[in-house]
Amino acid sequence: MDANLRETFDLAELIEDLAEDVCFEAMTKGCMLDLALENNLLVTGNIEMLRRAFENVLRNAVRHTPEGTIVTVTGKHEQGFAVVEVIDAGAGVADTDLETIFEPFYRAENSNPFEGYGLGLTIARQVMKLHEGSIKTVNLASGGFAVTLRLPLAA
Ligand SMILES: Nc1ncnc2c1ncn2[C@@H]1O[C@H](COP(=O)(O)OP(=O)(O)OP(=O)(O)O)[C@@H](O)[C@H]1O
Ligand SMILES: [Mg+2]
Repeated sequence: MDANLRETFDLAELIEDLAEDVCFEAMTKGCMLDLALENNLLVTGNIEMLRRAFENVLRNAVRHTPEGTIVTVTGKHEQGFAVVEVIDAGAGVADTDLETIFEPFYRAENSNPFEGYGLGLTIARQVMKLHEGSIKTVNLASGGFAVTLRLPLAA
């Protein structure tokens, strides 16, 4: 992977592609991905790195959402940023873990010891930083867990 390779592309298309892959995994537990993406979410960056970042967040959501529930993915233009929100219907993490889960190899109590290394969110945050973007997580008062990723729109 050439880390210096940057191109301008539609983030909505990237997420649609990823959702197709992740959808299969979701179906095996009776879940669905509900996408609501605005057109032309044009961003500039390393498409492979960004793919990995978004793929991890989508896979985490599908892994942690209970059987038969829906994972919602929205993508919007907001004040010069492409803002993507991935919301699952799971129990989220302890409030004290909302930042810790971004640390390398940290896996909260809800994680299955046979799946994953605890690196996905660490990498996702690094990748977002490299693109002058951000990633944050929040436990929703109404139940569910939301991950918000922001990337500057292409100039
Ligand atoms: N959608 C989510 N709901 C609840 N907990 C989550 C969610 N996403 C991540 N987590 C918690 O954050 C931890 C870190 O996530 P991260 O993606 O970094 O690692 P992982 O998914 O365990 O492994 P890897 O991504 O390296 O395969 C997870 O182990 C889990 O405890
Ligand atoms: Mg992960």
